[in-house]
Amino acid sequence: MAVPENHDPAPIGPPAVAASADLGEERFQFPPWANYLFPAMLLLAIGVLTYLPLLGTLALSPKTRSVGYRPEQPVAFSHALHAGELGMDCRFCHTTVEETAFAAVPPTKTCLNCHAAIKAESDLLQPVRASFETGEPIRWVKVHDMPDFVYFNHSAHVNKGVGCETCHGRVDRMEEVGQDKPLGMAWCLECHRQPEKFLRPRDAVTAMGWDAFAATGKSQSALGAELKETYHVLSEPFMTSCTTCHR
Ligand code: HEC
Ligand code: HEC
Ligand code: HEC
Ligand code: HEC
Ligand code: HEC
Repeated sequence: MAVPENHDPAPIGPPAVAASADLGEERFQFPPWANYLFPAMLLLAIGVLTYLPLLGTLALSPKTRSVGYRPEQPVAFSHALHAGELGMDCRFCHTTVEETAFAAVPPTKTCLNCHAAIKAESDLLQPVRASFETGEPIRWVKVHDMPDFVYFNHSAHVNKGVGCETCHGRVDRMEEVGQDKPLGMAWCLECHRQPEKFLRPRDAVTAMGWDAFAATGKSQSALGAELKETYHVLSEPFMTSCTTCHR
């Protein structure tokens, strides 16, 4: 710690103490609060150091909360083709969405079920074949990435009738998947306060372009209120409690 006051040619303290050559006594010229200065600065430093990564995640990372974030992928895989034109269900590849917190991205083997025969010679599929031969998984770049202090769970949503489309948009029209919704706290809470505005029947969670009236003849608010009852959606106090998402 710096002690520049010790070298002050004109000390402010009582002359008796100032005249003394004893450093130990001179230290008493610091006001009493100075004793707390170092611990206080230490605490502040620790605080800043622990908070920095958090700030970094929140403010600096381009992957967080940026609608439109669409990283380049190692394979030119198109959702518009597979989920759109070919009409494959999301769960064919994202097999775990109904059972676990995490929505698994398919292993290479899933692709080769078809691509061992379809477009088997395509250059675009070269990295897929290489991955299968070497056993090295394809390094897909994560599009969505919640900060670690937020708890999110896919199965909890999908099983209560929240559609993929509500949070991810028209994936069936995306050549490359990008983040479609803000995914920030205000956005989560908007639905947690009034889930009836968004709920759909469970068998329609992976449907794209779904509309309550077209599908059931009921308005979204009427159907949503009904489903909220049927699925026993938890009460607003639980849904908006801090510990539901920060645990
Ligand atoms: C043929 C397999 C397949 C099907 C069918 C499929 N996906 Fe995917 N999905 C992938 C692969 C591979 C990735 C990783 C590469 C990428 O991001 O494009 C992915 C990535 C995603 C991501 C981005 C994940 C991240 O990194 O944050 C979302 C969201 C997604 N899929 C949603 C859907 C939805 C919704 C459907 C149904 C409409 C669907 N997928 C159908 C294979 C598939
Ligand atoms: C159910 C079968 C099926 C599965 C599973 C499947 N695909 Fe496809 N894929 C197709 C079909 C059909 C086409 C279109 C072929 C055509 O244009 O004639 C295609 C086209 C492609 C193309 C474009 C190839 C080209 O040369 O134009 C790529 C790249 C591709 N798929 C990647 C993947 C990846 C990566 C996976 C695994 C995540 C995957 N596919 C899983 C059926 C499938
Ligand atoms: C309530 C909103 C919501 C719904 C509904 C939802 N997702 Fe997600 N999805 C998210 C969020 C938020 C993330 C980022 C999670 C993270 O980074 O921890 C994510 C991430 C993903 C990922 C990347 C892997 C992962 O789990 O981080 C895939 C793939 C995905 N979603 C597919 C789907 C599919 C397919 C469906 C429908 C069956 C679906 N999602 C429904 C919000 C949702
Ligand atoms: C479109 C509506 C909607 C959006 C958007 C949404 N949620 Fe939910 N969330 C729900 C519903 C419905 C439930 C189910 C409550 C129940 O179990 O009855 C739920 C439940 C949860 C749970 C409780 C899971 C459990 O196992 O206890 C967590 C945690 C959660 N959501 C986090 C989030 C986060 C974080 C976001 C934003 C990234 C988010 N949700 C966005 C509708 C939504
Ligand atoms: C429905 C889920 C959900 C609930 C409930 C929730 N949060 Fe959050 N919170 C989030 C998400 C998601 C983020 C990620 C921040 C972002 O990307 O905007 C976040 C971020 C934060 C942050 C970081 C600063 C910021 O604003 O980005 C603080 C602090 C915070 N929440 C406090 C709280 C408190 C206090 C409560 C209770 C009153 C609460 N949260 C309830 C989902 C939730």
